[in-house]
Amino acid sequence: MVLVGVAVGGALALVAVLIPWLPSADAEEAGPVDQVYWFVTIICIVIFALVAGVSVYAVWKFRAAPDDEDDGSPIHGHTGLEVVWTAVPAALVTAISIYSGVVLVQIERIPPEHRVVEVTAQQFAWSFTYEENGTQITSGTLALPVDQPVELKLTARDVIHSFWVPEWRMKKDAVPGIETDIVVTPSKVGNFTVVCTELCGLGHATMRAQAVVLTQQGFEDWLREQRRLAEQAGSAQGATLFTQQCGTCHALADAGTTAEVGPNLDNVLPGKGADFIQESIVNPNAEITPGFQPDVMPGNFGEVLSQQQLDSLVEYLQEVAGQR
Ligand code: CUA
Repeated sequence: MVLVGVAVGGALALVAVLIPWLPSADAEEAGPVDQVYWFVTIICIVIFALVAGVSVYAVWKFRAAPDDEDDGSPIHGHTGLEVVWTAVPAALVTAISIYSGVVLVQIERIPPEHRVVEVTAQQFAWSFTYEENGTQITSGTLALPVDQPVELKLTARDVIHSFWVPEWRMKKDAVPGIETDIVVTPSKVGNFTVVCTELCGLGHATMRAQAVVLTQQGFEDWLREQRRLAEQAGSAQGATLFTQQCGTCHALADAGTTAEVGPNLDNVLPGKGADFIQESIVNPNAEITPGFQPDVMPGNFGEVLSQQQLDSLVEYLQEVAGQR
C-alpha cells in the first residue's frame, strides 16, 4: 500500500513538474527560488498521495457490513508506526528549512558592486528614485540594466504594500516608517509588471507599474532622457509629470496614456479652469466624476509634488483643457 502511494505520488510529481505553471524565470534569483518551490511541492505531492492512498484503501477494505452494530476491535496504538510518522515529517521539515535558509542567504546577499533604486509605494502607485551623479531622478517606471545586480530599497507613504515582479520571483513588503530591501539581477531584456501583492485599499488591484529591463546602452540613454525631462519647466515639465504620476490611472490623448482606473480626462477636462484642476489634484474627493468611487485616487499629491511641480502640472492640463 505504501509502495503504491509512493509510486502514485512520484507519477503525479512528474506530471506537476512537466506542466509549465510558473511565469518565465527572468532574474538570476528566480532559479534558486523555483528549486525551493519544487522541492517543497514534490514532497507535498508524494506525502498527499501516500496519505490519501492509505485512507481510501482503509475506507474500502475495512468498511462495516450493513448489519454490523459492533464497536470494532480496540486499538492500543502502534509504537513503530508512531515513531515513523514523527521521524519522517521531522526529517522532511528540517530538510526544507535548511535548504530554504541556504537559498535565502544566497538570494539576499548584497554584492559589493551594485546599483541602488529607492522604491516608494503609496495608495495606489509606485515611484522609483535614482541617484545619478548627485542628481535625483524620479520615474513612474522601473528601468534597470540587464545582468546587473540592483538593490531596491522599499518604503511606503501610507499603508503596507508589497513589491513583486512575478518573472523575477523576488517579493517583499513596503512598510511605512522602515526600509526593507531586495536584490534583483534581471537576466532578460523586456517589459515586466510591478504588482502590489498586499491588500492596501480600494485601488489595490490597480496598483501596477511598468518595469523595463534594458541593455547597458539603452539604460544609459534612458537615464540621460530622464535627466533631460527633470530639467524641464512649465507645461513641458507638467506633461512629463502627468505621464509619470497620473498616466498610470488616467487616459489623456495628449499625453498618450490610456489607463482606465480613473476618469478619462479627454472627457472631463475640456473647458475646466486652473482652480478646478488644482482642486482635483490635491483634493480629489471634492468632486467625484459619476461612475467612479471616492478615495481611489491618492489624496496626498499636494505633499508629494512640490509647489513648482504642481504649478507646471496645472499649467499643462489647462493647456490641454483649452483654457490657455
Ligand atoms: Cu498597494 Cu496593494
